[in-house]
Amino acid sequence: MTIRPFEDSDTDAVVTLWEKAGLTRPWNSPWADVRRKQSVQPEMFFVAEDDGRIVGTVMAGYDGHRGWINYLAVSDDRRGTGLGRALVEQAEAALAALECPKVQLQVRLDNIGVIDFYERLGYAPYEAISLGKRLISDVD
Ligand SMILES: CC(C)(COP(=O)(O)OP(=O)(O)OC[C@H]1O[C@@H](n2cnc3c(N)ncnc32)[C@H](O)[C@@H]1OP(=O)(O)O)[C@@H](O)C(=O)NCCC(=O)NCCS
Repeated sequence: MTIRPFEDSDTDAVVTLWEKAGLTRPWNSPWADVRRKQSVQPEMFFVAEDDGRIVGTVMAGYDGHRGWINYLAVSDDRRGTGLGRALVEQAEAALAALECPKVQLQVRLDNIGVIDFYERLGYAPYEAISLGKRLISDVD
């Protein structure tokens, strides 16, 4: 098992993993998200590979104020083995190397069960309301 930066040839396997992990949404193209990450801090997009198979992903980024984690996923058959923790720690290490002072992430309301996982890794909820505005539509 190795955790390494994403490579173009991982794209199909990564999108399949995200779909199976319930991370994709109809209004958001995972293909476009992969492509965009290849032009912005691509070195902070990691995959876990085991015997040629992609079994985990994490995407990190630093905006100069906060670090962000997105697209954390572990394949069903590898959950509960410490891989999710290892991926988060990899992302944290990459952010810390840029002297990023704090890492944040968002959990969808239909996935609040995952909060226990993050709390075990030292994350705590903070009071804020997330707002967003779409600049580019991913759907026709
Ligand atoms: C969330 C996810 C990445 C966790 O990956 P994982 O490899 O199973 O996690 P780990 O084995 O590293 O677990 C780390 C710790 O969290 C605990 N944990 C893992 N999942 C948990 C859960 N659902 N509830 C409570 N604790 C959990 C583990 O017991 C472990 O505790 P320990 O270190 O004290 O023994 C994985 O379940 C997943 O891919 N889920 C679907 C995608 C998703 O929801 N991503 C997050 C979007 S915000």
